Amino acid sequence: MAKLGFLLICTGLLVVITQVAGQQLPPDYVTVKPFVGSRVFAAGCANTKTNKPGCMAACPKMCADECLVFCPTCSTLCKCQLPGNVCGDPRFNGGDGNTFYFHGRKNKDFCIVSDSNLHINAHFIGNHNPSIKRDFTWIQSLGILFDNHRLFVGAEKTVVWNDDMDHLNITFDGQAVSLPLEKSARWVSAAVPRLSVSRSKASNGVVLELKGIFKIMADALPITEEDSRIHNYGVGKNDSLAHLDLGFKFYNLTDDVQGVLGQTYRPDYVNKMDVRKNMPVMGGAPKYASSHIFATNCEVSQFGQDSVATAAF
Ligand SMILES: *[C@@H]1O[C@H](CO)[C@@H](O)[C@H](O)[C@H]1NC(C)=O
Ligand SMILES: *[C@@H]1O[C@H](CO)[C@@H](O)[C@H](O)[C@H]1NC(C)=O
Ligand SMILES: *[C@@H]1O[C@H](CO)[C@@H](O)[C@H](O)[C@H]1NC(C)=O
Repeated sequence: MAKLGFLLICTGLLVVITQVAGQQLPPDYVTVKPFVGSRVFAAGCANTKTNKPGCMAACPKMCADECLVFCPTCSTLCKCQLPGNVCGDPRFNGGDGNTFYFHGRKNKDFCIVSDSNLHINAHFIGNHNPSIKRDFTWIQSLGILFDNHRLFVGAEKTVVWNDDMDHLNITFDGQAVSLPLEKSARWVSAAVPRLSVSRSKASNGVVLELKGIFKIMADALPITEEDSRIHNYGVGKNDSLAHLDLGFKFYNLTDDVQGVLGQTYRPDYVNKMDVRKNMPVMGGAPKYASSHIFATNCEVSQFGQDSVATAAF
């Protein structure tokens, strides 16, 4: 289990906090809480190749989430910058290592991964900002299909956000998946023992795992008035726009995988976006539109295309 080492010393601007990496981080990384701009002492780096007793690093200013320290070089990045992560007004980190925005449309569903036996749709929520032409969007839920199963994870709509309350709604084949409100609580499917859901924190954070196929880290979080002010989202007081920040790991994708994120894992993927731009935007949203959260009818869909999978029926 992840060990938590907490050491808080405030001497002027110096904040020292360490946390040994949880199971969802790649090796050699430790997480530190985002004390923006302040220097952090990553004691969890002590056992790496550097053999140093921890290291000092400064977290990037833009880290809205956890800041990670890469121990071998003592360099930092935000968790949302790791490949396979999708955060905020959706910013995707492709399997090819490039970062891009995909805005989708609010109140619509888009296939973000579509493979012969794995399909993942995302439901987008947002608000319209008349001062710019597009909607601001966030991912509110995922519909995940494999074999003949349906897994759903969503952030529940809520006016006022209270982080001590769990705002995640998880269902498997239509049945609620309920987990005690404690870190590391774990549910294993009776029907599909390879499938588990574990809490990464006491509330609002889970890891969904289908052994050998995927691991999905999902955190529910609100848009705060502070976020709204900084980014000019124009979010009102009626809705906290609870949404998901996501981290994906895939272990058995085929070379034909498609979808907004999925295609970036293809060996023949060619990035056609203008990567010289500060943050390129992936267009072509209609190609990825699914008619509902469990529909596999997006134009690029690969689900069920595998001859082996269909021959089984
Ligand atoms: C959870 O999501 C399912 C599927 O969308 C929905 O039917 C159900 O009402 C939700 N439960 C709660 C407590 O919101
Ligand atoms: C991985 O995918 C292949 C087909 O692409 C399939 O035959 C195999 O069973 C899959 N592995 C697992 C663990 O499901
Ligand atoms: C939203 O908030 C406004 C006041 O800020 C209120 O008049 C209105 O009824 C609210 N709408 C809903 C749907 O709660």
